[in-house]
Amino acid sequence: MGFSQWLSLTFIFHAFLSLPISSEPFLSPEVLPQIPVNFLDLAKSPEVFDWMVGIRRKIHENPELGFEEFETSKLIRAELDQMGIPYKYPLAQTGVVGYIGTGSPPFVAIRADMDALAMQESVEWEHKSKVPGKMHACGHDAHVAMLLGAAKILQDHRLELQGTVVLVFQPAEEGGGGAKKMLDDGALENVDAIFGIHVAASYPIGTVASRSGPILAGNGFFEAVISGKGGHAAIPQHTIDPILAASHIIVSLQHLVSREADPLDSQVVTVGKFQGGGAFNVIPDSVTIGGTFRAFSKESFIQLKQRIEEVITKQASVQRCNATVIFNENEKPFYPVTVNDKDLHEFFQKVAGDILGTQNILDKQPTMGAEDFSFYAEVIPGYFFSLGMKNETQGRFESGHSPNFRVNEDALPYGAALHASLATRYILEKQSKLNPPKGSIHDEL
Ligand SMILES: *[C@@H]1O[C@H](CO)[C@@H](O)[C@H](O)[C@H]1NC(C)=O
Ligand SMILES: *[C@@H]1O[C@H](CO)[C@@H](O)[C@H](O)[C@H]1NC(C)=O
Ligand SMILES: [Zn+2]
Ligand SMILES: [Zn+2]
Repeated sequence: MGFSQWLSLTFIFHAFLSLPISSEPFLSPEVLPQIPVNFLDLAKSPEVFDWMVGIRRKIHENPELGFEEFETSKLIRAELDQMGIPYKYPLAQTGVVGYIGTGSPPFVAIRADMDALAMQESVEWEHKSKVPGKMHACGHDAHVAMLLGAAKILQDHRLELQGTVVLVFQPAEEGGGGAKKMLDDGALENVDAIFGIHVAASYPIGTVASRSGPILAGNGFFEAVISGKGGHAAIPQHTIDPILAASHIIVSLQHLVSREADPLDSQVVTVGKFQGGGAFNVIPDSVTIGGTFRAFSKESFIQLKQRIEEVITKQASVQRCNATVIFNENEKPFYPVTVNDKDLHEFFQKVAGDILGTQNILDKQPTMGAEDFSFYAEVIPGYFFSLGMKNETQGRFESGHSPNFRVNEDALPYGAALHASLATRYILEKQSKLNPPKGSIHDEL
């Protein structure tokens, strides 16, 4: 069944079924705060909790890298089928987009990423990664489980939804820019707003952390080949040494942040790759360097990119070498700055406050990390937040990308309930703005 067919079918279905509700689509202000509390109770019930834990462990055992999430995607679709949730597939190769509700506006999206990292798991436990050299070390297995948990809760309440929740399961967050491809494939058509969660070991369980405005940096990668002329290490005058040239280049690159950037405008240039030579007594023909650059505004990002290219090529030429610089945007697209929408921030504080208590809504300092959620938040209002996992009685939880990374599964119900509550309350608020209940017009005047 095509998407538009599905839309019209569900529309007829729900227009029929939800008549008694749509004549009274407004829940009273006293009822609203109760929604997330009820959802958290549901998410903590063994029926939902154990099921989420099972899904998360299954995905953890079989980690798949970006754009290769075939089994993960299959598992998601099987669960959606089981729940009777219609979806579009494939988007961005392995991506899945599910729909719960009327099939009509307002549309609100909740998102999970599905990919693992190319690294070996060091944690010894029953559900350790079964794939050598691959590991869910960023918690995306938990993100999928939480989004499915939210789907279960929402599907049970679908007849009360006066709009549509869009479930976005995307590939390749870790550098591949899966979000961008999901957008290109129409994942957010007609969608009014999107929410994303990332688990975080640095915040206590039962808390969330975020802020309004820019929270994560824009990110790009660069690689350069510096070519000289190889030869005998003891006869340097007959060679052009690319190792020395690359060293000058790396030192010069550091001046971009320390001397050219506004000290109050955070930026990073890191060379993380330096490859050249193999023998103690040979000057090699060429050296390859590579790294990342990050900034908090589009302008600074573009400026940094241009200067990196200039510094590499011109410094190479000072050293009598040639250099080629590539940014390899096809494989590793530039990630925009992640910017949280101001109105969604207020909305989030309200809803998350109802569920966790206002004292557990923490302020998150921006960091130079990057997220491809930023692609979504660039085209529609978006909101990205951290979900606490820390619980000292369960030992230390390492931060993401550590081979010792562990997910605190106690966080799953919080994530599921937050997803479900944010989506439900968003639709309710949007509806009451579109059709204000009698009397409220006067309040506004
Ligand atoms: C640099 O490029 C120029 C022009 O192609 C070439 O003549 C020169 O030999 C190159 N130098 C090195 C060190 O590769
Ligand atoms: C922290 O972990 C302990 C031990 O598993 C557990 O009893 C407690 O409920 C956890 N705290 C929270 C807030 O989940
Ligand atoms: Zn990551
Ligand atoms: Zn991640």
